[in-house]
Amino acid sequence: MSQLARAQITSLGTYVPPRILSNRDFEKMVDTTDEWIVTRTGIRERHIVDHGVATSDLAVEASRCALARRNMDASEIEAILVATVTPDMLFPSTACLVQHKLGIKGAWGFDLSAACSAFVYALQTGAQFVATGAHKKVLVIGSDVMSSILDYTDRATSILFGDGAGAVILEPAEDDQGIIDFVHEIDGAGGCSLYMPAGGSLHPATHQTVDNRMHFVHQDGQAVFKYAVRKMGEVCEKLLSRNHVKAGDIDCFIPHQANQRIIRATAERLGVKPDSVIMNIEHYGNTTAGTIPLAMETAREEGKLKKGDLVLLASVGAGFTTGATLLRWTI
Ligand code: UT7
Repeated sequence: MSQLARAQITSLGTYVPPRILSNRDFEKMVDTTDEWIVTRTGIRERHIVDHGVATSDLAVEASRCALARRNMDASEIEAILVATVTPDMLFPSTACLVQHKLGIKGAWGFDLSAACSAFVYALQTGAQFVATGAHKKVLVIGSDVMSSILDYTDRATSILFGDGAGAVILEPAEDDQGIIDFVHEIDGAGGCSLYMPAGGSLHPATHQTVDNRMHFVHQDGQAVFKYAVRKMGEVCEKLLSRNHVKAGDIDCFIPHQANQRIIRATAERLGVKPDSVIMNIEHYGNTTAGTIPLAMETAREEGKLKKGDLVLLASVGAGFTTGATLLRWTI
C-alpha cells in the first residue's frame, strides 16, 4: 500500500454554462425520445456553451469560484493542472490560458489527458506536489466542452455529453485527513472503443477527415459500458481492501457520471450504502473531466458531503483509463 501523506481539498468551485439542451430538444434533432434517453442513461438535460466559449473559460469561472470560497488571491497559486480532453487548442496548453486569464504570476502548470478519469488523475498528480512539499497551493481543474467534439447527427453518442467544469484547491493536510490513497490503471487495448480519430499527428486535419466526420467522438457504447461496469468496481475494491475499509464505511461515493446504470451496477457490486451514492447525471449528462467536481458540489448541496466524511471517487474513461481515490473530506 502506498501511504501518501497528505494533501487535502480546501476549496471547491464549479461552473456550467447557462444554456440547456434537453432531451426534448434532441427529439427535434435526431431520431430519439426522452423516454429512451432517460431509461438508458438517466440523463434529462445537459448544459452546453454558446459559440466562442471554450474550455479555459469554464475552467476560469470554476477556479474563481474555488478561490473566492477560500478567500484566496489567485496569485497564491503555485501550480495549475487542467484535466481536459477538449483543450482550447492543441497548444498552448489550457493551463497556460487559465494562468493568463486569472492573472497568476510565477506559477507553472500543464494539461493532463485521461478523458473521464482525468480529474482523479490530476487530483493525484497535484497531491504529489503537495505531499512532497514542492508546493503548498495547487489548483486542479476538470473542464470540458464536449459539445465542441460531438456529432449531433449521431444519436447514440451526442445525447450522452454536456459541458462543465470544476476546480479544487489542494493544500497540505494535518494528521490523517485529506487524500489517503489511489488505484489508477490504463488499458490501451480499449483505445478504439472511444476516441476522436482525427486532429492529431496520425490523421491531421484534411478536407477528407472533415468529410468523414473524424473530428468527432466515436464510441462503441456497449464495449465501454461493459468495461466500465467491470473495471470501476474492480479498482474500488482493490483500493478499499488495501486500506482495510469496508464499502459500508464509505460516507460518500462519488462516481464519474457516464450512465445511471453503470453507477447503480458499480454501487451494488461494491455494497456501498444507497444513500451515499451521488448522482447528478440527470441535469448535466457526462461532462468528462467535469463530472466528479460537479458531483462533489451536488453532494454538498444535498448535505451528503460533510467535514470528516470518508469519500470514494471512481472513474472510467477513454483509453481506457480507470481510477479510484480514497479521501477524508475536510471542508
Ligand atoms: O465516460 C465514458 C463515456 N461513455 C460511456 O460511459 C458510454 C457507455 N455506454 C452506454 O452508456 C450505453 O451503451 C449507451 C447509452 C451509449 C447505449 O445504450 P445501450 O443500452 O447499450 O444501447 P445499444 O447501443 O445496445 O442500442 C440499442 C438500440 C439500437 O437499436 P437496434 O439496433 O436495437 O434497433 C440503437 O440503434 O437503441 C438504438 N439507439 C437509440 N434509440 C433511440 C441508440 N441511441 C439511441 C437514441 N435514441 N439516442
